Amino acid sequence: MSIDQKFISAIKEGNVVAFPTETVYGLGADATNPEAIAKVFEIKGRPSDNPLIVHISDRNQVYSLAKEVSDYTKMLMDHFWPGPLTFVLKKKNAVLDAVTAGLNTVAIRMPDHELALELISKTGPLVAPSANKSGTPSPTKANHVKADFGSSVLVLDGGSTEVGIESTVLDVTGKYPVILRPGSIGNKEIKTVCKTVVLTDQIGSSTPKSPGQKYSHYKPQAEVRWLKSEDDFDDASSLFLMINMESDSVFKNIIHFEGNFNRLARELYDRFRQADSQDFKRVIIEPFDERYENPVIPALLNRIEKAIGS
Ligand code: TXA
Ligand code: MG
Repeated sequence: MSIDQKFISAIKEGNVVAFPTETVYGLGADATNPEAIAKVFEIKGRPSDNPLIVHISDRNQVYSLAKEVSDYTKMLMDHFWPGPLTFVLKKKNAVLDAVTAGLNTVAIRMPDHELALELISKTGPLVAPSANKSGTPSPTKANHVKADFGSSVLVLDGGSTEVGIESTVLDVTGKYPVILRPGSIGNKEIKTVCKTVVLTDQIGSSTPKSPGQKYSHYKPQAEVRWLKSEDDFDDASSLFLMINMESDSVFKNIIHFEGNFNRLARELYDRFRQADSQDFKRVIIEPFDERYENPVIPALLNRIEKAIGS
């Protein structure tokens, strides 16, 4: 497979290009070009204190961005890259402040997607936040990017993304790794590989280490809430996401996931967007908890709780 030259040229000329990764689509720009990075913040409407992830295609690129890569970090990179795990590392001076929002750390990830890797191998490292306008759910299809940005952004179409929710963000600047944002790679998987304690940042603390966690993301226009009772089904203006429960409702607006949490992750943001485009007033989700032991569950609970708001 080979990417059309226009995408590569656009990045080299300092423009932004949306591209697929295995998690969600990213809004890519040259990580060494301050004007291109400024465009990302402007187009997305992103607060300037929220740093960006640098996406790489080659392990050696880590060493031009970060200093002090610990042994446990190397083990995790060996095991999980390319993949949905982002590392927060102490940055080298050459990394632009615009990328890190002035922090002394930089977030780096090697995405597991053929098109993303090919693009980055031809352009060099790319900053890429999720390719949605701030405040809308992250895009898992090229059409979602087009719905948010129209024709103002070039989109490299790679179909639907496989994972569907954003990468796990892991702070590896200290003795033990700390999960700053849960994703499909969970605490247990990380621990099995690096064989150290794995901590989780207190979500909801007043000064989160991952600035993005303080913003309300992932929200459709429709209200999102948990299913409370069977009576909720007497409502044609809600879209229902059922994990296991069968229902004999007369309405057609019920999606059954049959206990498949990976499918729920893959479809969650698309269902949020579907609710808005079909004018549903609510998205009602059957409650579930971590007893199901799928690593994606804490990440799903995090995204759904944020969509519900508090
Ligand atoms: O799966 C993903 O990570 C997607 C795809 C496109 O790669 N990208 C993504 O980017 O979700 P974004 O910008 O929407 O979220 C990046 C998260 C934010 O919560 C941000 O605050 C955090 O990573 N982050 C970035 N740099 C950081 C740093 N130096 N220290 C702590 N958190 C950082
Ligand atoms: Mg985002």
